[in-house]
Amino acid sequence: MHAVDRRPGSLSLDGPWRFQLLPGPEAPLGDTWTRLEVPGPWTTQDTGDIPRYTNWRMPWPEYPPHPPADNPTGVHERELHIPAAWAGRRIVLQVGAAESVLLAEVGGRPVGIGKDSHLASEFDISHAVRPGAADTLRLTVVKWSDASHIEDQDQWWHGGITRPVLVYATDPLHLADVRVTAPADGRLRVDVQVRSADGALPAGWRVSAHLDGVGELAVDEEYAAWCAEEARVSDFLGEARLRAAVPGVRTWSAETPELYGLTVRLHRPDGSTADTSHHRVGFRTVAIVGRDLLVNGERVFIRGVNRHDFHPLTGRTVTPAEMRADLETIKRYGFNAVRTSHYPNDPALLDLADELGLYLVDEADIESHDHAHEIADDPRYLAAFTDRVARMVLRDKNHPSVIIWSLGNESDYGANHDAAAGWLRRYDPTRPLQYEGAAKTGWARADVASDIVCPMYASLDEITAHAASGEQIKPLILCEYSHAMGNSNGILADHWAAIEATPGLQGGFIWEFWDHGLLQRTTGRTAGRPAGRGGEGAYAHGVAAEGYRWAYGGDFGDTPNDGAFCADGLVFPDRTPKPALYEHRELAAPLRLSREPDGSVRLTNAQHFRDLSWLTAEWLLSLEDAGTRTAPAALPSALPPGASARLAPPPELMDRLPAGGGEAWLTLRVTTRGDEPWAPRGTEVCTPQIRLRERPAPPPPTASGPAVSLDADGLLRHPLLTSPPVLSLWRAPTDNDLLGGAADHWRALGLDRLERKPRSVDRDGARTLVRSAYPTAVGTVEHLQVFTPLPDGGLLVEETADLPEGLTDAARVGTVFETVPGLDHMEWYGQGPWETYPDRCAGGPVGHHSVRVDRLFTPYLRPQESGGRHGVRSFSLLSSDAGGGLAVRLDAPRQVSVTRHRAADLAAATHHDELVPRPRCVVHLDAAHRGLGTASCGPDTLPRYRLGAGTYRWSWSLHRR
Ligand code: GAL
Ligand code: MG
Repeated sequence: MHAVDRRPGSLSLDGPWRFQLLPGPEAPLGDTWTRLEVPGPWTTQDTGDIPRYTNWRMPWPEYPPHPPADNPTGVHERELHIPAAWAGRRIVLQVGAAESVLLAEVGGRPVGIGKDSHLASEFDISHAVRPGAADTLRLTVVKWSDASHIEDQDQWWHGGITRPVLVYATDPLHLADVRVTAPADGRLRVDVQVRSADGALPAGWRVSAHLDGVGELAVDEEYAAWCAEEARVSDFLGEARLRAAVPGVRTWSAETPELYGLTVRLHRPDGSTADTSHHRVGFRTVAIVGRDLLVNGERVFIRGVNRHDFHPLTGRTVTPAEMRADLETIKRYGFNAVRTSHYPNDPALLDLADELGLYLVDEADIESHDHAHEIADDPRYLAAFTDRVARMVLRDKNHPSVIIWSLGNESDYGANHDAAAGWLRRYDPTRPLQYEGAAKTGWARADVASDIVCPMYASLDEITAHAASGEQIKPLILCEYSHAMGNSNGILADHWAAIEATPGLQGGFIWEFWDHGLLQRTTGRTAGRPAGRGGEGAYAHGVAAEGYRWAYGGDFGDTPNDGAFCADGLVFPDRTPKPALYEHRELAAPLRLSREPDGSVRLTNAQHFRDLSWLTAEWLLSLEDAGTRTAPAALPSALPPGASARLAPPPELMDRLPAGGGEAWLTLRVTTRGDEPWAPRGTEVCTPQIRLRERPAPPPPTASGPAVSLDADGLLRHPLLTSPPVLSLWRAPTDNDLLGGAADHWRALGLDRLERKPRSVDRDGARTLVRSAYPTAVGTVEHLQVFTPLPDGGLLVEETADLPEGLTDAARVGTVFETVPGLDHMEWYGQGPWETYPDRCAGGPVGHHSVRVDRLFTPYLRPQESGGRHGVRSFSLLSSDAGGGLAVRLDAPRQVSVTRHRAADLAAATHHDELVPRPRCVVHLDAAHRGLGTASCGPDTLPRYRLGAGTYRWSWSLHRR
């Protein structure tokens, strides 16, 4: 058990290997080999064994520690050519990860076994190889084992070797471990362990260490003297301790990821170098003081996201370039923290987090969800718990990015956790540890294995009540919140308003980064397999190309399964951002704007460590009726963290303001001034805005022109519409609506099949009054439409709907109609440009936006309500070839959606590829629209984003353009 270090000079064994899939570990090997790409699970490489998705249940019934009899076993073989020059050296085989049991053989000789599907196994193969000749290397991976019961995470089950395989060589005398302690005060300590492959250490060895820009470290003389004493009775003290005090140290934080290079060398008695290891040191201190988690003394907000290892083609195997792309995306959308849910990630990810600046909760590979209670106290799993926690800590201890250790996920709480926590607390007193299962036994309990209260999906009321209770003794950071399944992440702004305003609340980790949709050919679905790597061309903008789809649970014929519950991320399977990411980006904005009573603008630096010099900005003045004007902005670049300053809005824009133009908004568009490690220069960071002038009330209408024409049922006939405006109270259920119960409620009320009954038509001069009734299970909705022809040839529609007592919590109250075909572009004044909803609209600034109709729609994996825009004041639908189209002006900012799909089309489809876009636009204008909430796993939307019974009034006018 020791720290794994990817060594320079190692030989990669990645590439095509010979492969056989056997029905079980005891089945005899056949004669036929196929080829398999390593690393890469066999379940995504057309081998006959399929990916299986279950949330918490085990995919088979056997009790722990038993595996099922049917146990796919992959035999991987290739030649191993060890260079002749490695003769006499210590030769190590490293398998990055294999799930779930790995057996290694060299030249027919067993060299060891390994477990833990997310940590490397290392085997000393010095005595099994023949340097200069070829030996057969065989890695047999057994898919199911006792370990599967503690790897029961909510994700696809795969089988195979999922991380790189390599061999490296060292001197028999080598650096076995280097442990760096680098607190923010600059007092560096490096503890080194030296081991010799053949046991005893030769006399006269020496260790040196050099810190870039600082110099050689000094030997801890006191310790060296003590060692010399001890060595008289024992010659196995292969330890060295070195020290340095770094004056004026540049500290590491997620905002300022300052790293120093450290080189540790082991010298033979003659002074020559036997072994070298390189490290990057970040000086930082993590501490819990009272109920605050402090990084370098600062109470930092944890703006986190949970991330699984995922790839739509390989299932689980990710390259360093892909990990970098993930983390860059995470940084660009305002996150400063990642929980490595639910296992240690590839070491490359930790290097990247150090470099790009992300706080990590490093989580051990322990989740026994289905059998949590039995396993937590089962001594047969004790060694596995401590082994998994300790190996993670030993591997990752030198990463400044790791600020918290996690004992695992959803495994109840038992003696096995306390054993692992006991070891960890003693071994690494420099970091706190967390475990949700322990914390939930009592948020105010000091005696459990969690230094942090880290609940999942707790409601705002619960967490704020705890913070106000006077009983809080630990920081509260949600390990999971705001479940991103489908069209979701409602009330994120409410979360952050509460967190920023409440001492004791410090943030959380959104669940989760990825939608785990595997690319699958649509021909022969049951036999369908994900394409191997190289199929990258088969998707774009979040959508799988013609002939493919994003598969979720059950799509491979996998039973049992948990359907689309694995599609719950902030990015599509191809890493295309979902609209919710923009919401998060704005809530995490490094600078904030507010309006002072005297009308001036106040700017606050909301960061913890940085000033504003890395940012640049421009002002945008958006006027409803007079377009957008821009002017350069001068940011106070030296403004320290937490400070605020008055900012003069640009006179060249403000001078234009009194000239009219309706409602007016001033937006600060903030971008990166230079290249950041995670974003090129000019990347948008946030767009805070303030309203300068309210929207004037619309003038009373004057009727002019002939009254509207209606059909026999009293439905409007209009040359721009192919389907007349009628009342709508329903939406295609989102995942939150389905799993949280709202969809059932609407079905019980009959809102999904609302039918209009004509009541009466009255003419009043040029005005036409149409009354309709819409029966529901709890009474009839009375609906009135008043049509008034306008002087410009347009039409004003004033509507009233009376929802009877009992008709509460509808999806929407509004109008739906369909336009003539050929309108493919939308321009609007309102929030945007991305999708926004009443409880998820902080990230969509008000302004003039313009988007192709096809791109307004968000292609959530399981089709559902999508494409809405909040706060729309007016919009046009235009034909891009012929020009012309229609314009709609709304009485007030309203929720509007324009798509090519009726709500019923969306609700009937199970995958995006089943949707057939209509040539017309389906337009919804809502007087009110229910919030999204996060009820697929966690709290529903807040009461203020729900719809009550009573009278709704809204109006809109339709014009030709
Ligand atoms: C949590 C769990 C995650 C995931 C999530 C729902 O309970 O820790 O692994 O299952 O719920 O998507
Ligand atoms: Mg689980």
